[in-house]
Amino acid sequence: MDLAPDNMKKVFFTCGGSDANEAAINMARTVTGRSKIFSRYRSYHGSTLGSGNLSGDPRRFSLENPSATGFIKFKDPYVYRSTVKFANDQEASEYYLQKIEEQLAYEGPENVAAIFVESITGANGVIIPPDGYLQGLRKICDRYEILLVCDEVMAGFGRTGKMFAFENWDVKPDMITFAKGVTSSYVQLGGVIISDKVAEYYSDKVFQYGLTYSGHSLACAAGVACVNYYKKANLLENSRKVGKVLGEILEEIKQKHACVGDVRYIGLFAAVEFVKDKETKEPLVPYADKSGTMGKIVGLLKERGFATFGRENNINIAPPLIISEEELRTAMTIFDEVLDIVDKEFL
Ligand SMILES: Cc1ncc(COP(=O)(O)O)c(C=O)c1O
Repeated sequence: MDLAPDNMKKVFFTCGGSDANEAAINMARTVTGRSKIFSRYRSYHGSTLGSGNLSGDPRRFSLENPSATGFIKFKDPYVYRSTVKFANDQEASEYYLQKIEEQLAYEGPENVAAIFVESITGANGVIIPPDGYLQGLRKICDRYEILLVCDEVMAGFGRTGKMFAFENWDVKPDMITFAKGVTSSYVQLGGVIISDKVAEYYSDKVFQYGLTYSGHSLACAAGVACVNYYKKANLLENSRKVGKVLGEILEEIKQKHACVGDVRYIGLFAAVEFVKDKETKEPLVPYADKSGTMGKIVGLLKERGFATFGRENNINIAPPLIISEEELRTAMTIFDEVLDIVDKEFL
């Protein structure tokens, strides 16, 4: 627990990210006695009934049914795609926070148990919130006694150069959900880290949730080994150091290629957003596109040995935290070559 903020001392271990979020939804509703849960459109939180409905991206559609109620979506602080032009981060944060307050008023804040956010949106294009956004969200949650849950399944465990992505701002959540990086994804493990306030509720009550393999000892042993290695090998520092080089390369790539509208990066967590036209920002493919265009670009990368994935008109770049600068430069040469093909053949 020395990894988490000082308001948190307990963890409920799960088998992965979906059931971590499922457990967090359960706790949020039980502890507050409220039913509604806020989360964002450009988000992915899992594929079980609750975590799937918590998710905003199209993967939720097949899970949406009348038995899953109370999941309210709000819009992301997606500054690149905003029609409002902001002078700075503060202006952007105020704008998005004001929209959330407005939506809370319409829903009745006294009915809202929790606001879930990926501290930095992962699969949906590495959307990094403007400075002030998460801090402001914390204040809103405090004002209405709503729990703030940071989903760190993708961004946690060193990916952004900090143990948890929310540490890039001065924020303490009420719950942190995690998975993937805790064992470097070698063994299935996830969990919910809970604040003292949430833990207190369960001091004399049983948390009625769990799967046969929740917190399996094999998985926990892998988690301990990985976290110890992260520390021993200074992987957070490597994430920051090599991440700086990744950012510089991505800025060059953005200048060079007509198909690149935006690049977003923090530590070893990045996305490249593809457009048909830099000026109009028309996305290379429309939202929820089924043409397979982005799949072809990912295929071109994979053929050349660059393993990654994309969603919508974004391709993520999230190399292993042990990557060296030299290895990164070699990989990004492949990326650059593929973008030459995209510029010529896909626009
Ligand atoms: C942010 C986030 N939350 C939750 C999940 C679900 O985790 P799992 O696939 O371990 O169930 C994912 C998986 O990609 C994720 O990226």
